[in-house]
Amino acid sequence: MVTNTLMNYTTGREDLQHWLVSEDGFRPEWLGKGESVFSLGNGYMGLRSVTEEHYANETRNLFVAGTFNKFAENEVTELPNAADLLWMEFKLDGVRFDLTQGNILSYRRTLNLKEAELVRKITWQSPNGNVYDLTFRRFVSMDNLHVIAQRVTITPKQNSVLSLTSGINGQTTNSGVQHFLEGNKTTTESGIDFVFHSVHRFYRRESMNPTSIIKMDRRQIFFDYSDIEIPANEVFTIEKYSTVFTSRDHEVTVDSTEELADLALDVTRKIESEGYDYLLDRHVQAWDELVWSRTPITIKSKDMFDQLAIRFAQYHLAVMTPKHDNRMNIGAKGLSGEGYKGHTFWDTEIFILPYYTYTNPTIARSLLEYRYLSLPGAHRKAKENGYEGAMFPWESAWLDDGEVTPIWGAADIVTGEATKIWSGFIEQHITSDVAFAAWQYYHVTGDQEFMDNYGYELLIDTAKFWASRLEWNETYDRYEINQVVGPDEYKEHVNNNAFTNYTAHWNIQKAIEYVELLRIEKPNLFQQLNEKLDLETAETRFRHVLDLIYLPQVREDGVLPQDDTYLQKQIIDLSKYKNQENVGSMFYDYNLEQVNEIQVSKQADVMILMYLLEDLFSADVKRANWEYYEPKTLHDSSLSLSTHSVLASDLGNRELAYSLFRRASEIDLGPNMKTSDAGIHAASLGGIWQAVVNGFGGVRMTSGNLRISPMLPEAWDELTFSINWKGETLDIYASHDKVVLTRRAPSTEPLTVEIYGEKQTITDTFTSEVLSV
Ligand code: BGC
Repeated sequence: MVTNTLMNYTTGREDLQHWLVSEDGFRPEWLGKGESVFSLGNGYMGLRSVTEEHYANETRNLFVAGTFNKFAENEVTELPNAADLLWMEFKLDGVRFDLTQGNILSYRRTLNLKEAELVRKITWQSPNGNVYDLTFRRFVSMDNLHVIAQRVTITPKQNSVLSLTSGINGQTTNSGVQHFLEGNKTTTESGIDFVFHSVHRFYRRESMNPTSIIKMDRRQIFFDYSDIEIPANEVFTIEKYSTVFTSRDHEVTVDSTEELADLALDVTRKIESEGYDYLLDRHVQAWDELVWSRTPITIKSKDMFDQLAIRFAQYHLAVMTPKHDNRMNIGAKGLSGEGYKGHTFWDTEIFILPYYTYTNPTIARSLLEYRYLSLPGAHRKAKENGYEGAMFPWESAWLDDGEVTPIWGAADIVTGEATKIWSGFIEQHITSDVAFAAWQYYHVTGDQEFMDNYGYELLIDTAKFWASRLEWNETYDRYEINQVVGPDEYKEHVNNNAFTNYTAHWNIQKAIEYVELLRIEKPNLFQQLNEKLDLETAETRFRHVLDLIYLPQVREDGVLPQDDTYLQKQIIDLSKYKNQENVGSMFYDYNLEQVNEIQVSKQADVMILMYLLEDLFSADVKRANWEYYEPKTLHDSSLSLSTHSVLASDLGNRELAYSLFRRASEIDLGPNMKTSDAGIHAASLGGIWQAVVNGFGGVRMTSGNLRISPMLPEAWDELTFSINWKGETLDIYASHDKVVLTRRAPSTEPLTVEIYGEKQTITDTFTSEVLSV
C-alpha cells in the first residue's frame, strides 16, 4: 500500500461531495501526477496542468487534437507541443515566487470535476520572511473550444511590490523535438498554422493598467509588468485570457494565416470583455449539458471513492474526445501528455467506444467515421504487406498517414540496445477490433444510416483483409494466421493467437451475412459496394475460407490455448512481479526475448476474447481460463484490470470484480504518485465505465439483443445509470434486492430485454428482484 502521497480524494463537501480531486502539498519530484490527473481540455485541445511558475522536472504541454507533424523522415508523426500560454513569473518584493524556496504555510490544489476548473490555493512565506496568499484558477472552455482563462489573486500580508512576466512561450518541444518553423508558427512538415493570443487584465479594487514593456525572443513574446504596489491585505487580481486556433480547424473558414489571426484576435478581445465569471458560467453549463445531466451515474457505496472514480473517468473522457471533428480520434493518453505521441490504438474501439455507443451515439459515430475516413491508409498498409482490403494501422494519427507505430522502444536489459517494437508490423487484431466496434455501435444504436454509408463497407473491407491474410497449412488442411502479436504484447511472433483467429473468423462471418443481406434487401447499395469492393469475388473467397480457419480449441481442462506455443512455455514464480508497485518490473530481470519464453502475460488476451465473443464460451470455460491465465497476467497494461473486472462480474464473483474495479480506478486516481507521468490512461478510464455498466450493471448486447443483469458488490447499496438503446433512453436502478428499468419516453412499441436470463417485454417500466447470474 502506498502511504506516501499528496492525493486527497475526500475534500468535496455538500453539493461538491465526490466531485473534487485534491493534492495537499507540493513536491517537485511528483509534478507529473498532478500535471496529468488535473489536466484540462475540451477535445479540441488538452492542457497539462503545470503550475504558472517554472520548476525543473515539469512537462509543459498544450496539444491541439489532430495537428500531427513529423519532425524528420526517421521519426513518426506526433502531436506537437503547441505553446505555453499558462506561463507567469512573479517577483514578490524582489524575490522570485518559487515553492522550493521559503516555506509553504498551506497548499491545496483541487480539480472540480463538475465545473472543470482547477484551483490552487497557497500561503507562501518568502525567504525574506514576507507572507502572501495566492490563488490560481483556470479552465479550458467547453463552451468555446478555443479559449483558456486564468485568474490569479495575490494578497500580501504586508505592503508589497509585484513584478510579473507573462506571455506566450513557443519554445516548447516534444522532449527536445521542435515542430515549428520560426516566424509564423507553422508545423515543419504538415504545414499547419497555429495562432495564439493572450491578453491580460489587472484589478486592485478596480481595473488598472500597470506599466509594461513588451519583449520578444525566438518563438517567445511576453510582457514585463513592474513595480505594482499592493497594500497589505488587499487583493490584487491578474486575469489572462488566451485563444488557440489552427488552420486545421474545421469550423473556421479563412483563406490565409493573417485572416485566421484577425479572427482569433476578435475572439480574444470578445472573451476579455466578457470576463472570467461569465465565461466560467457558460463553460460549467456546457459541461452539464454534455456530460453531467446527460450521463449521470450514481453509486451509493460504503466507500464514496467509487462515485468519484466514475466521475473522474467521465471527466477525462470528455476532456480527451475530439467530438467536434470526425477527422480526429482519441490518443492513448488523451491530450494529457506526450506518451504514445497522441496516436490512436484499439484502445478507442474496444475500451472507450462502448461508453459513447451506449451514452452519446453521435460522438461514437464520429469516432467510427474517423476509421472510415482513414481507409485509404488502411488500403495502403494492406497493399504494402501483400494483402487486400483494409488493414488498419496499429497506431493511427492523421487520416492518410497509415501506420505510425515507432520502430524502436525501451532499452533491452540484456543487450543494452533499443528493443524493436513489432506491433506496427504484426499486431493485426486492430482490424477486427474496428469491425467489431462498428457492428456493436449499429446494434446498440440502430443507426441504419451509419451502416448504409460506412458500416457495411467497413465490415466487408476488413474481412477482405483477413481473407487475404490467411495462410494455408498443408499438413493440417486449414487456414492459419501466423507470426502475429495478439493483445498480450509479451508474446511476439506467435502462431494462431486465439483472439486474432477468432475475431478474424467473426469478421469474415459477419461480412458473409451482410453481403447476403445487401444482395436481397438493398440491391442498390449492393451494386455500389460491388463496384468498390468486388463483393462477388470477395464473397466466394469468404465462403471458401470460413470453415477452414483454424480456431484453437478448448482443452479437456477447459483452457483455451492463447496461441500455438504459450502452454508449452516455462512456468516461473511470478509473485514478485504480481506484487509490484510500478508496472513493468519484470524487465529489470528479463528482456522481452526471455519474457517471450515464459508463461506470463502483459494483459487480458484470451480473457478479452471471452468478453467480446462471450456466446462462444460457457461459464465453465470462462472460469477455467480465468484460473489459468489471471495468475500469469501482470496487468502491465492499464487495459487489463477493467476487462478482468467485467469478467469477474460475469462469473458471479462480485468481490473479485470490485477489487479489480478499485485497482483499475487507482491507476490514475490512486495514491501512487508515479503512475501518470506520461499522461492519463485513456482506455482504462473507458474500462472503468465498462466495469460499472457492463460489469456490475450487467449490460450487454449479444446477437443484437439487450441483456441487463445487475449484480452489485457488497460495498455498494445502489447503482443508477442510463443507456441509449436503439434511439431511446433507458434508466436503470439497481440495489441488492431489486432492479428497475424505465423507458424514459414510454412507447407503444414494446421493448424486449433479457433480464436475469428471462425475456421481458417492457412498455414503460419493469421491476425485477435480483437473481444470481
Ligand atoms: C498495450 C496495448 C495498448 C497500448 C496503448 C500497450 O502497452 O499493450 O494494448 O493498445 O499500450 O494504450
